[in-house]
Amino acid sequence: MNYNELLITAESLLEGQPTKISLLANASAFLNETLEKMNWIGFYLYDGKVLNVGPFQGKVACATIELGKGVCGEAALLKKTMYVKDVLNYHNHIACDGESRSEVVVPMYINNQLYGVFDIDSPIVNRFDQDLILFLEDFTNLIIKQLTFMTL
Ligand code: SME
Repeated sequence: MNYNELLITAESLLEGQPTKISLLANASAFLNETLEKMNWIGFYLYDGKVLNVGPFQGKVACATIELGKGVCGEAALLKKTMYVKDVLNYHNHIACDGESRSEVVVPMYINNQLYGVFDIDSPIVNRFDQDLILFLEDFTNLIIKQLTFMTL
């Protein structure tokens, strides 16, 4: 897969979204129809206390995650992308969709404030390579760039 081309396509899609919800919903839908072998792609948004599930593609998920809890809460707290190659062998994993086997979570900070996390799950152990993780970080940065100047 050519991630550079995908980023160019993504940028024009993400630039045209009218609201933050539209942006996050279409961002998750875009990746869900583009990346193979994924079972949950979406956002948890920070309300000042906890992470709440936001727009996503996949099965019904845990509604609320505390900071530090699960891969999502850990990425949010540590301010760094987390890659768990085998979630069944990771002590701090919350099993929302029982099919998930590997997972990447990219934290989203805007002006040094936690906005939320982007969570991408696969039913395959070790599904993510370095190029894919870098692409997911670049994709998240495109979303953050849009969010910074959106009001609705
Ligand atoms: N597995 C995540 C919880 C969210 S679901 O995967 C959608 C975690 O450990 O934080």
